[in-house]
Formats: sequence, C-alpha cells, structure tokens
Amino acid sequence: MRTPVIAGNWKMHNTIAESRSLVRELKQLIHDVTDVEVIVAPVFTSIGAVVAEVQGSSIKVAAQNMHWEMQGAYTGEVSPRMVKDAGCSHVIIGHSERRQYFAETNQTVNKKVRAALAAGLTPIMCIGETLAEREAGTTMQVVAEQVREGFAGMQATDISCCIIAYEPVWAIGTGKTATPAQAEEVHQAIRGIIAEIGSSSVAASMRILYGGSVKPDNIDELMREPDIDGALVGGASLKADSFFRIVRFQR
Ligand code: PGA
Repeated sequence: MRTPVIAGNWKMHNTIAESRSLVRELKQLIHDVTDVEVIVAPVFTSIGAVVAEVQGSSIKVAAQNMHWEMQGAYTGEVSPRMVKDAGCSHVIIGHSERRQYFAETNQTVNKKVRAALAAGLTPIMCIGETLAEREAGTTMQVVAEQVREGFAGMQATDISCCIIAYEPVWAIGTGKTATPAQAEEVHQAIRGIIAEIGSSSVAASMRILYGGSVKPDNIDELMREPDIDGALVGGASLKADSFFRIVRFQR
C-alpha cells in the first residue's frame, strides 16, 4: 500500500547541459513506470532545465537543500518559496553531508521540514548514525533523537506528509551497504517512533527510504525487507541505466 520511492541525489555533479541529457535519457527509460515514484535532485542551477525536461513524464524534481526563511537578507541561500517556484515538488533536508560539512543540526532540520511543508513541498528528511556511533552501540538512540527532534512540535497530519531517508553515514559513498537485516532493524524502529509521535496510521503510511551505496546489485534484496519503501541513491543515480535498474527493482 506504500508506493515505493526511488530518488536520485545528484549532489554537486552535472552542469545544466549534463543534467538535461541525463534526465532526457532517464525519461525515455522510465516512460512506462507507473508503480514507483521517481525523483531526481539536481543542483540548484540545473533545476530549471530539469523541470522543463520532465514535463509530460512522471519524474519529480527535488532540491538538495534550502533555507527555512521564505525570503530575506541571507546571501547565498535559496528559500522554500523559490524552490517551489522553480518547479520542485520535493526537497532533501538534513543530508549527512549538510550535517557534517555545513553544521546542520536536528534543530535546523526541524525548521526546514516545517518551512518546506508551509511552502507546499514534500520534505525528504535524512537521518543516520556515523560509524563511531554504530560501533559504540548508540545507533537506535541517535536515530530516535534525529526523528523526534526533526519532527518536534509537529502535528501527525504534517508528519504524514514527509518522507524519511535512513542513511547510515558509514555507508554513504563508501561502497559499504548496510545489510538488508541491519537496515530493516533501523527502519522498523523508525516506524515505531513515528507511531509514538504521530499515530499508527501515519506510521503505516510513511515511506522510509534506505540510502548508502545503493546499487543495481543490492537494491532487490533491500526492497524485499518489509519496512524499506525505496531508496535515496547517490553515485548510482548519475548514470541513467544504473538508476533505471534501481527503479526497476525486483522484490
Ligand atoms: P551513495 O549516496 O549512494 O553514493 O552512497 C547516497 C546519498 O548520500 O544520498
């Protein structure tokens, strides 16, 4: 009953021309995919070109970040209103690279998640433990705190409009994927927390994506886990054929 989501996070890759040709290729490949929600997240400068290119297809476009204020004196920032205006339907919030290199916290994530919803965008809220946290045995604690603080003060109806991406930091860009069982264990725990802070029906309908070295050769086993509802894909989303194979996962 939960429509799977496969989202490609292009990170800081691709010029406008490169973005256009990648999404054009993808559009051809996925023209008859109707049972999976496909999202691509280009850099800000390519959003306009990608939005124009996906017209008439089911591909949706996400921004990789945004500020929480709608406008103002914040040099270099882009607001939720502007992201929406550019044609995005989704926005990635709190990716571990933002937390690691740009000092984002659960508190800024919370402000951004709320601002995204206020602008009519679907937030994809990213959470996940570092290697040190996993080795110290604090994964569940860290992830629970990220979910609770990320959604702090929000009504169940607002929480139900969000997507979560669980991305263990040690699995991102490293070629080390969490095993399906490791991922499932955390996904299940996340769903439990959503039931507590939202409701059991919000938990049952919430899409929880896995991210971290998702590839054509590991997507199938990940998607067989009952609480894994899709993937946030970095490296393997930069080539149309590998991203397409992930979109066409076999359960
Ligand atoms: P990766 O990145 O697939 O290259 O590990 C995933 C992500 O950071 O969203």
